[in-house]
Amino acid sequence: MGVPHFLVLPYPVQGHVNPLMQFSEAVIKHGCKITFVNTEFIHKQANNSGEALDNLKEQGMRFVTIPDGLDPEDDRSDHQKVLVSIKTNMPALLPKLVQDINALDSDNNITCVVATMNMGWALQVAHKLGIKAAFLWTASAVSLAACYCIPRLIEDGIIDSEGVQIKKQEIQLSPNMPVMDSADLPWGGVAKIFFSHIVKEMKNLEFGEWWLCNTTSDLEPGAVTISPRFLPIGPLMESDTNKSSFWEEDTTCLTWLDQQQPQSVVYVSFGSLATLEPNQFKELALGLDLLKRPFLWVVRPSSDKNKVNNAYPDEFHGGKGKIVKWAPQKKILNHPAIACFISHCGWNSTLESLCSGIPFLCWPFFSDQFFNRSYICDVWKVGLRLEKDENGVIVKGEIRKKVDQVLEDGDIKARSLKLKELLVVDNSVKGGQSSKNLEKFINWAK
Ligand code: UDX
Repeated sequence: MGVPHFLVLPYPVQGHVNPLMQFSEAVIKHGCKITFVNTEFIHKQANNSGEALDNLKEQGMRFVTIPDGLDPEDDRSDHQKVLVSIKTNMPALLPKLVQDINALDSDNNITCVVATMNMGWALQVAHKLGIKAAFLWTASAVSLAACYCIPRLIEDGIIDSEGVQIKKQEIQLSPNMPVMDSADLPWGGVAKIFFSHIVKEMKNLEFGEWWLCNTTSDLEPGAVTISPRFLPIGPLMESDTNKSSFWEEDTTCLTWLDQQQPQSVVYVSFGSLATLEPNQFKELALGLDLLKRPFLWVVRPSSDKNKVNNAYPDEFHGGKGKIVKWAPQKKILNHPAIACFISHCGWNSTLESLCSGIPFLCWPFFSDQFFNRSYICDVWKVGLRLEKDENGVIVKGEIRKKVDQVLEDGDIKARSLKLKELLVVDNSVKGGQSSKNLEKFINWAK
């Protein structure tokens, strides 16, 4: 029997490409082969070349592309459009791609397809081709558990058939999981159309034998046992270098950090998708100015220039800060100068910060980010909420107050360091539960 050859397909956003790349690195270490499928658009943007990747290519990683069906000038930040185009155009192209890859290397035929959320159609195609299939969930296991429980949530009258919460109430997805707020369900805050997409996608996921989760049983003990398909293999953090960054990393912030006092800098980043309203952007700028400490702020230029207006207010000084367009985030979070992280609580950012022992100030925008906030603040107790005022704005005074509060709280820092220990030291040791699960998965794929 040859080694497993995985065909992996991320949905074309940074938050999916990164963990799938880390998954690829992890299985390559076990001698497996990987063919990584990017959309043509992302392949050009992410530029899958360079030294970091050469090593992986030597070890058995290949990159191929499929068109997403959109025109080059189309706006890829419109996810409804991207989603529809992918689902319409890609499924018909996949069998031919598999055939071509297999024809090139008949000793190493593709044995298993691994896809992320929104690419569930690929699991169905794999099923038709008689190839094994697994799903990689890039967010927290609790948010997958919520999607899995949709029929029951409807039956119990917690949400209606369109996903809207019937009344604000506490929910518990299973008896060994924390009590959560029904308003935080992961389809809240996104367009209604995405709920029906999730419902359909959950049907596709049934073609995946395993639902690989980038988490650990220590972090989410209840969520990972909600179905026997859940297989925690995280945290996927193979190396420091981001091999799939969509934007060029500004490394000048690392030299800038070198000049700052230990545990003094507030790091601010909202991931690759979220954008701020102009008045909220101004308020944040002024809030950072109020701090008696340095800050490092990622202000990502929008792909659609008309949509975002990142105009700094006239009073903004910014003297104690450094602003970059895109940062080497993992290196930053591991830098001794970092004190806390003002974060949108995207799952990758959450894991990266947990693995670095950095306390959070939570500023969620959509999808799984509200559940992540709830775990950060109420379950692991390693961060605080930034609260909106009556106009729905997080005002500058709130930012200053919470930064002071989180940094004065020795218990939060102590718990952050303890969790880091649990995730990084205990889990990376060979024989940790996640690495056992990964081995189990690879053996199944053989
Ligand atoms: C999306 C969703 O928003 C998130 O909720 C979900 O869990 C995954 O998909 P995104 O918003 O981009 O992802 O956030 P996140 O999951 O945190 O991923 C962002 C990635 O970009 C992280 O790996 C982070 O290290 C990286 N990043 C971010 C950089 O490398 N540089 C930056 O300046 C900012």
